Amino acid sequence: MSSEAAISVRDLSKVFPVYSKPHHRLLQMVMPGPKNRWYREFHALRHVNVDIFRGETVGIVGRNGSGKSTLLQLICGTLTPTSGEINVNGRIAALLELGAGFNPEFTGRENVFLNATVLGLTRAQIADKFDDIAAFADIGDFIDQPVKSYSSGMYVRLAFAVAINVEPEILVVDEALSVGDEGFQRKCFARIDAIRDSGATVLFVSHSASTVVDLCDRAILLDRGELLISGTPRHVVSRYQKLLYTPAEKVAEMREEIRASGGGVSQGMEAPDSSRSSTVEEPRSAVTAQRAESEIQAYWEEGMEPSSTVVYESRGAAIESPHIQTLDGRMVNVLVPGDTYVYQYKVRTHRVLARVRCGMMIRSLTGIEIGGGATATPSDALPVVETNAVLNVRFKFRCLLAPGVYFLNAGVLAAFDEGEAYVDRRVDVAMFRVMPESSRLATGFVNLDVVPQVSVAA
Ligand SMILES: Nc1ncnc2c1ncn2[C@@H]1O[C@H](COP(=O)(O)OP(=O)(O)OP(=O)(O)O)[C@@H](O)[C@H]1O
Ligand SMILES: [Mg+2]
Repeated sequence: MSSEAAISVRDLSKVFPVYSKPHHRLLQMVMPGPKNRWYREFHALRHVNVDIFRGETVGIVGRNGSGKSTLLQLICGTLTPTSGEINVNGRIAALLELGAGFNPEFTGRENVFLNATVLGLTRAQIADKFDDIAAFADIGDFIDQPVKSYSSGMYVRLAFAVAINVEPEILVVDEALSVGDEGFQRKCFARIDAIRDSGATVLFVSHSASTVVDLCDRAILLDRGELLISGTPRHVVSRYQKLLYTPAEKVAEMREEIRASGGGVSQGMEAPDSSRSSTVEEPRSAVTAQRAESEIQAYWEEGMEPSSTVVYESRGAAIESPHIQTLDGRMVNVLVPGDTYVYQYKVRTHRVLARVRCGMMIRSLTGIEIGGGATATPSDALPVVETNAVLNVRFKFRCLLAPGVYFLNAGVLAAFDEGEAYVDRRVDVAMFRVMPESSRLATGFVNLDVVPQVSVAA
């Protein structure tokens, strides 16, 4: 990586005219002038300054509408700045949001030629690469169909195949990869790795915290058109996630706090810290990554509350203050993978209950039951609990979950009629997040402590 800028952005602002009624756009065209302004101005980007250095892989994160795509489009030249400057040093290939790039009436094959010509390749060079492009896209006979008949996944496959096969010096990718299926995404990330290792500069937008932490040397956080911080991916991603869960009335305060936090190791426009370089000479060491991770502690993030909580009708007990604690008693909701925590709640009884046992369950964002536990089997439940008693219920667990957001259930069972029934039950009563892990090899929700091994057969 060199300290020469591949992309340099100075005091960049972009203002869009916004018309409250469609016909105002027409009125603005026929009756312009200082007195007749038929639109209001929307500042999509405000005074952004950033340098992307040659050989760096930089992730842009930010809430919806924060200006990420606008910034990429300005860098790629598909939008013009309202004020400020952009300098791009090198051949740039871009994969922008759907809609940019291809002519819908032309076939895939024709679009490959068009697109690659725009990127500066000669016809002979494209003909040479065409088979590789078609093979990577892997869309079969659709290559000779008009692009307008493509699914969004096919469109992205072809666009990405072109972008990475033209040997770009700068690759810009806007979220598009999330459209493809997992197999294709994996193939793309492997290619991005290869492009990066060849010394190219990669700039991409992603909402996936783990992708940014895994892939990037640096991340930047945009919010409401402003660049809040630039720094180490882990630092920036954690601030971004904090912002995501901040209630609306506290956002301004949180923005200031984030801005004041700086960017972790490498700051704003300085050259990046070379220890984070991912060049072949200096591969990221798993040991270093683990050491850095061990210093990270679980913490409490304000505002992370589920909006999906369901409380079933009580039949004689109430669950109170369910939360997760560290072993030394700190309440937390952002957990470090691999560490041990206690999920606990209280149960207050409103009548005498027999054969009482309590339970918990952790569910994924999509509602899959990942794991849980109960305090007893039906045969060794607490025989009797008096009225107005308070039970302290604790479930110690090791957090072996993949990075992401999870939801907690709590339930109390007691004897009812012939069998047993919930006397209080709460679904999605709390939520927590597991921090990303840069050196994670485990896949899926749960880390099974798989020991991988590979050797070349003699
Ligand atoms: N052509 C336009 N005219 C008016 N407003 C626009 C235009 N393009 C973008 N905007 C506005 O500018 C803001 C930034 O948009 P942009 O697409 O850059 O956000 P983003 O960070 O990429 O969001 P997302 O995560 O949803 O992709 C948004 O509020 C959007 O509504
Ligand atoms: Mg966008």
